[in-house]
Amino acid sequence: MIFRQLFDSVSSTYTYLIASRRGGEALIIDPVLDKVERYLQLIEELDLKLIKAIDTHVHADHITGLGTLRDRTRCITVMGRESGVDVVSMRVAEGDRVEIEGLALEALYTPGHTDDSYSFVMGDRVFTGDTLLIRGTGRTDFQNGDPAAQYDSLFQKLLVLPEPTLVYPAHDYNGMTVSTIGEELLHNPRLRIRNRQAYIDQMNALKLDDPMLMDIAVPANRACGLVTAA
Ligand SMILES: [Fe+2]
Repeated sequence: MIFRQLFDSVSSTYTYLIASRRGGEALIIDPVLDKVERYLQLIEELDLKLIKAIDTHVHADHITGLGTLRDRTRCITVMGRESGVDVVSMRVAEGDRVEIEGLALEALYTPGHTDDSYSFVMGDRVFTGDTLLIRGTGRTDFQNGDPAAQYDSLFQKLLVLPEPTLVYPAHDYNGMTVSTIGEELLHNPRLRIRNRQAYIDQMNALKLDDPMLMDIAVPANRACGLVTAA
């Protein structure tokens, strides 16, 4: 398998390029607009054909590369059915499979960070978007975020996966690249609270600044990154 974890240092976003073999079909998860040329170059160098591009949710901190990748490669754009993005070509729901040659991802609906957040399970690993981060969880204070829904997503959908499951998040701000479900259960400070109301209180007590790009990124991403806000 080809598995590349790519980093955008401006927004601390991880983007994943995955294929079952050199010369085969590929998919990309959470591409960043500013990095599209780099992705396309790597795709060409590895002799891949980009078939699908997935956003785990409408991002607030960077502009998605989904629309540009679609225009350049004719790939299928994929998001959850709850997203307000009307130009995606494939909408997934809980349990749906996103397939390319030799690989399949299972969609898990994991709202909380946003109401359109999905995670994707692929064999021994899970792409958790901004629902489960390494030693953290995604903020729940905008974009219809909901700490109660996030608690349920974490404890009913993600943390019940086998403990060796590798965790690949959409962001990391501390240089960590991968974790496991077992490691997060033991060491993630946000998950020490195994009580729904206490988790809600913890999240509501966070006082976070808005992401720098939020006023630009959210409207732009509702159009797959193709239109920037005035
Ligand atoms: Fe996010």
